[in-house]
Amino acid sequence: MKHPELLAPAGSLRAMDSNYYSILGGGARLRLLEVFFELQIPELLGHHGPMPAQQICVLLGLNLHRGWKFLHLLALSGLLEESNGVYSGDETLFGLSADAKYFFGPTGTEGFFYRDLVGFWKKVANLSLIDVLRGAPLPEGINWPYATRESVEHFEYYWMRLTAAGSIDTLLMSQAVAKADKLLDIGGGDGTVGCALCSAYPHMQVTVFNLPVSAELAHTHIAERQMTDRVHVHEGDFFKDEFPTGFDHVLFNRTLADWQPTVCKMLFDKVKRSMAPGGKLVINEAMLEGNTDFTLAWEFRYIFYDSYGRALFKPLSVYKQLLEDAGFRITKVTPMRDEAFYSVIEAEVAI
Ligand SMILES: C[S@@+](CC[C@H](N)C(=O)[O-])C[C@H]1O[C@@H](n2cnc3c(N)ncnc32)[C@H](O)[C@@H]1O
Repeated sequence: MKHPELLAPAGSLRAMDSNYYSILGGGARLRLLEVFFELQIPELLGHHGPMPAQQICVLLGLNLHRGWKFLHLLALSGLLEESNGVYSGDETLFGLSADAKYFFGPTGTEGFFYRDLVGFWKKVANLSLIDVLRGAPLPEGINWPYATRESVEHFEYYWMRLTAAGSIDTLLMSQAVAKADKLLDIGGGDGTVGCALCSAYPHMQVTVFNLPVSAELAHTHIAERQMTDRVHVHEGDFFKDEFPTGFDHVLFNRTLADWQPTVCKMLFDKVKRSMAPGGKLVINEAMLEGNTDFTLAWEFRYIFYDSYGRALFKPLSVYKQLLEDAGFRITKVTPMRDEAFYSVIEAEVAI
């Protein structure tokens, strides 16, 4: 920040007004982002590099005056980099920002997950929120866990596997499972996390507990990684089935943030019944603290999914209470790092 003296002091009236404008600014940012994709601006500027506003507007068929303002706001949102713009002239250059290159690659053609997030957003964004809040029927296919094989595949592969790296790094850095011999990974996706843990820790055996279609995907993925001797699959539904026994570590990796507190408590009770004496429960989740925008974005969408529960991204205090109620004691918390959203809780059965 070049001029920190221009920032509003925390708690001042100006800071409160700024908070209000950050809500309005969020609406503007999202509209801009949608059109940024619709006009294929990442691809255009990724291909050509920075271009004068006039040229961009001609190529995209935009009115120059309005288009200039639009490009300038994309720059303010952090998606474009603006230069030569002191006089806001037609020759002002706009190119992809460093953030945009991170999201969509240097050529502007990548970033499937970031694009898909907006695609999912748009599925619900045009419905009338007030009608939905008053009980209007929801469109087909909006439910969780996903019902069709195709949607499970899309979810486990494109969402979970492609976004697993940050959570795996967090878990490894925390050392929370470093001493595990037999680890049960509940809701363990297609085995991506289990395979990564076994690669990092040569002594470890992992069992992935998952629903039938995901379990089948896990079998295939683990075989492809040639890890069937180390990573096993146990098909089950944690609403109906007890967990298999004999594990010294039980892991929830990005699984509890899908469920409201009552469900998490039920799962902790099951872990307590199944875990080997002296075992450790490890939770690697996005928590509410530090993730307010992340939570707002996801849980807004969840309003439109009746099968999602309430307040899914929980603060640490809620996890603490649920664990206590289930007879666990927290032994360590590793806060999230700069690279990812996740924090790690380690707990053991309270004596
Ligand atoms: C958000 S994903 C996390 C996947 C993986 N742990 C990871 O971090 O990549 C949640 C996982 O929980 C599984 N799951 C959802 N409901 C389940 C249930 N009732 N029983 C067992 N697993 C379930 C899903 O199939 C999915 O693999």
